[in-house]
Parts: sequence; structure tokens; C-alpha cells
Amino acid sequence: MADVQSLATPALQRFARLLPLPSGTPAYLGLSHGIRLMIMDGHLALGARLPSERLLAAGLGLSRTTVTSAYRDLVNTGWASARQGSGTVARMPARDRAPSLPLVPDGSTDTIDLSAAAGLAPSGTANIVARALEWLPRTLGGAGYEPVGARHLRERIAAWYEGRGVPTDPDQVIVTPGALAAVNVVLHALVRPGGRVAVDAPTYPGALGAIDAARARPVPVPLGDAGWDLPGWAETLRRTSPTAAYLIPDFHNPTGHLMGDPTRRELAGLLAQADCIPIVDETLACLDLDGGPGVAAWAGLDDRAVAVGSLSKVLWGGFRVGWIRCPPALLPAVRQRQLALSLGPSAIDQLVATTYLEAPETVLAEVLDRLRETRDAWLDDLDWMLPEWRFQTPRGGLALWVELPHPLSTELSLVAAGHGLALTPGPRFSPDRTLASRLRLPLTLPPDAVSKAAGRLADAWQDTLDGVRGVDLEPRSLPL
Ligand SMILES: Cc1ncc(COP(=O)(O)O)c(C=O)c1O
Repeated sequence: MADVQSLATPALQRFARLLPLPSGTPAYLGLSHGIRLMIMDGHLALGARLPSERLLAAGLGLSRTTVTSAYRDLVNTGWASARQGSGTVARMPARDRAPSLPLVPDGSTDTIDLSAAAGLAPSGTANIVARALEWLPRTLGGAGYEPVGARHLRERIAAWYEGRGVPTDPDQVIVTPGALAAVNVVLHALVRPGGRVAVDAPTYPGALGAIDAARARPVPVPLGDAGWDLPGWAETLRRTSPTAAYLIPDFHNPTGHLMGDPTRRELAGLLAQADCIPIVDETLACLDLDGGPGVAAWAGLDDRAVAVGSLSKVLWGGFRVGWIRCPPALLPAVRQRQLALSLGPSAIDQLVATTYLEAPETVLAEVLDRLRETRDAWLDDLDWMLPEWRFQTPRGGLALWVELPHPLSTELSLVAAGHGLALTPGPRFSPDRTLASRLRLPLTLPPDAVSKAAGRLADAWQDTLDGVRGVDLEPRSLPL
């Protein structure tokens, strides 16, 4: 994130806009609390220099002593360091640093995990495994390595695309250990270090991690309640010339938005014009909870598109099977990367995937029923326990994307841990760590666990509000 001081007035204005300011508590404590929140929500990157005491005091209309005391408080509590000549720099005490991976509860407590959108295996899973294992003796006759995937599975996946109206040669399919591995392979193959990848903000945090791992740079395009902003995309493509765009057009994680056909066609055209490769994550494409008009598969709109899919959300994440559907021109580069990064997925998981794909309907129906039930339970419980929280009811996907009345998502996540609730706060879904008022609530919790989770959430929210009482949470602009 930018060094606030070097950006002068506009950055300082943004700083002040994002800063919850005190009213009631001693001014210096309110100011240090506000800056701490900014660090936690990622508005202020670790290592970024805070505005000079003089500039901030003048800009906020506070005394210089107040700002000096606030900065001293931040240093004393580990939230900043001060060095002669380099000013005051944002830090985070090691104990408060959130892990970069999703928070996975250790299983030793009764923590309810809302940090990941991953469901339990459906009831038919053991039966699918048993049927798959009948094929095992034949498989054991070989070495077991299938670096780009077993032929039987690549044929099934190609048939799935055919079913969506996109003719596909099994040789275009590369099987990977899950969709995230697929995104990693594609990014490493197609984007040079330092290259740009346009993404929705918010987007799937795993993809942001993959972009980072490929040493590429995410370019955010805001995705609001109204859906994809085509002028915003056009402007971003023109201004930043990204090599690729990572998209989740089907029941987007975390918003649940489904991109309609006219928007699809137009965005596909913009990407083609800009020579930007669409990396289209279709992991959630089958999670249509309410039904409605179908949409075109992206590969049918643009033959340059690289599509990625997985069985993690329609069967179970414990089977590590995903795939890439690659345009022939990009196959050599993508295959080469796949071979460099792994020697392919487990042979047994691939047998399970093939067996599942022979007749996915019954299992999928169960998965969808459960997601619907959980969605309904959240709607009821939030309605009476947290009526001031806002959200759109998604037609499909894995989550409710909630808007909190205050930008306290990270604070809430820290407080919630003490209530036995693991959350992933909004800024984790944002490349620039904004979205502090947003929270993702997964629909993957068993329906009968929702009431308990919502109760803990309501208690944690009350404690969060109590913790910041006296702080003016309304965004305030700097009188400069
Ligand atoms: C959009 C999206 N892509 C990929 C993944 C990861 O899938 P997999 O478990 O197959 O790696 C997820 C998981 O939540 C996801 O939401």
C-alpha cells in the first residue's frame, strides 16, 4: 500500500476518511484505536509510514500533543515503530497477526468454522468411493502417475463441457489437485512476474494468494451489489493492460452474483479487445439454488478463455480433483507448468471423480438442498438476531455477503474467536484489503448449526460494538 506521506493531500484525505475518530474517549486513545483498526483492515499496509505528526494534527484539527501521544501509544502497544529519520511506521504485534491462510480451527474446541466455504461430504459419497474402488485393480497395473490426468477422467470432463455446449477434446483437459492448484498452474504458465491480473474486488482469497505466489500484481475492479461494472472494466483494461483477468462469473465467491449473458458477451469482447486472457473459475457453476435462465459457458464465447473447475463444491473438498480446460494454443505452456509444479492428482481420487461424473445428479441435488436449507436458516436467524445487517439473497453459490453497519469486520473476527466462531473478515477478499464493512457467511454449515452460529455472531457483534463505544464510526473527511 502507498506511503501516505509521499502521496500528500489525496492520500491524507483517504486516510482521514477511513479513520474512525474519537468522541468521548480521550482523543489520543481514540486516534490510536482508529489507526489500529486501519492496520487490521489492511487500509494501512504493514511497513507504511504514518503521516507526520504535524500534518495529521493540522488535517484533523487536533493538537500536536494528541497526535504525539497517539503515536507513542501505538509504539508502546506494538502497532507502530518509530525510528529517527524514518517517522512512524505501521506494524502489527506478532500475536495479532492473522494467519495468511484461511483460519482453520484446531478441532480441539467447539469452534464453529465460518472461515471457509466448504461443506461436509454428501451421504452418497461412501457409495461412490466403493464403486470407484472396483476399478482399482486395473489401475494398480500401472505406475499410478498421471501428470495431466487419467484418460477416463479427462473424457468425462470433456463430456461435461460438451453438455454445456462447448465441444472439448479430452487432450485439452489437464486434471489438477483441485481448482486452486489449477489457478496456480495457469497463472505461473501465462503471467510473467510483475505482470498484472485484473480481479473483481471482492474475489476468492485463494486466487489472490495464487496471484501473489506467481509474483504477479492484482488489479482490482470493484464488484458491487449491482454486479459487474462494465465501464469500470473497460477503464481498468485500458489503464493497466493486464495480461489476464481472473473471473468467477457463476455464483461468484463471495457475492453469489451470476453474470447474465449480455454482460458476459460484453465483458468477453472487452477482454478480447484488450488482449487479456480470461481465466474463468467455474468451480461454483453448478450451485444454482433457485434455478432460472441458464448462461453461456465462457469458453463458448471466447476460444482464448482458460476455464478452471473442481469437484470440491459439488462433491467434497477432501477429494483433490480439479481441472483446466485449455485452448490448444496455450496447452504446451500450461502442461509444462503443470509438470513442473506437481506430478498430478491421486489416482484414487481420479477414480472417484470419474465415478461421480457418470451420474452426478442425485448427489448434486442433496448438496443443493442442504445449501438452500442453510441459506434459509441464515435468512431467518439474521433477520431477528442481527436486523441491521444487510445482504442480498443470492440465487446460488456458497455464501451470504453481508454488509455490516460499521467497518468492523476484522475487529468482529478477532472478538468472534473468543466466542468460538472462526470468521474470514471482508478485507481478506479484497486485493487492497478494503471492504472492512463486509463479512462472508458460508452456506456450507449444516442447517441445524446455523442458530448456534448466529447467536454467537450476535454476541460477538455486541461485544465488538461495546469495545469501540465512544468512537465515531462514521467515515469523516479531512478538512484540507
Ligand atoms: C471460486 C473458487 N475457486 C476455487 C476454490 C478452491 O477449490 P479446490 O478445493 O478445488 O481447490 C474455491 C474454494 O472455495 C472457490 O470458491
